[in-house]
Amino acid sequence: MRVSRVSFVILLALLSWGPPGLAQTQSGQQAAELQIYQKYRAWVTKQSPAAGEADLMGQYRGILADEGLSASEIERQIRVITEQGQRLEIELWNRILTSPTPSFNTSPNAFLVEMTRSINPGKALDVGMGQGRNALYLAQRGWVVTGFDPAEKAVASAQEQAKRLGMKLTALVLRDDQFDFGREQWDLIVLSYVGLRDLVPRLYDALRPGGLVVVEGFHRDATKIASIGAGVVFDTNELLKLFERFRVVRYEDTNGTADFGMQGTRVVRLCAQRP
Ligand SMILES: C[S@@+](CC[C@H](N)C(=O)[O-])C[C@H]1O[C@@H](n2cnc3c(N)ncnc32)[C@H](O)[C@@H]1O
Repeated sequence: MRVSRVSFVILLALLSWGPPGLAQTQSGQQAAELQIYQKYRAWVTKQSPAAGEADLMGQYRGILADEGLSASEIERQIRVITEQGQRLEIELWNRILTSPTPSFNTSPNAFLVEMTRSINPGKALDVGMGQGRNALYLAQRGWVVTGFDPAEKAVASAQEQAKRLGMKLTALVLRDDQFDFGREQWDLIVLSYVGLRDLVPRLYDALRPGGLVVVEGFHRDATKIASIGAGVVFDTNELLKLFERFRVVRYEDTNGTADFGMQGTRVVRLCAQRP
């Protein structure tokens, strides 16, 4: 597993989103590994997305050394992060997204609802679909929806909900680097609080001409009040630059309530069309 995938391609976390008592429910070793990973994650989310993986690991070694850790303990922690990070990240999302007391907006993303309200349903892709709140909404509205996410418990929850509601939904347990986006086959691609920096060229090719991407994430200012994964944090106008080949339908950089963390913060939104 490459740390950069965890750090920069995916995710976000207010680490406090995890259900209380998480560490206590793990076996001792798992809890210790999770703690090591979460400490790294809290640190790495504050770093610039421009920093390379090797640089980050070097810097983090320095931080652990400054704390007085021995060389062997530093290497052990780095191994946990690089070798177990992906598994721990998925475990974290499984827990957050299937918690009986959700700390995120379980309703569909309001920006997605607004941007799709007046368009005819077609074929939609939900990248990093989580427990399927957006995919299920679209399916309910008549879209033919495929979603994927590596958090298998969250995906299972989406599948169960679709079955309960008698809806057709293709929900796959996959990471973005395992999914074949195809060419010119989607009318809509949803990226709701997921990392996308490395994906933009693939999104462009995968959309049909005229197809839309709908994105919501955090502005970098949000990291001042919470620890948020760099993948879902964007600088001022960064989304506009990332999607410069697209026709921008709507761009917002505003104070609002984020779907994850559910507190007032600076949120960025983009709806853009493949010409
Ligand atoms: C904050 S949640 C957002 C879930 C959903 N999009 C929503 O808005 O409800 C981030 C999601 O990204 C998923 N994720 C993490 N790494 C991923 C990857 N490499 N490819 C696709 N999804 C990933 C996580 O499992 C998690 O479900």
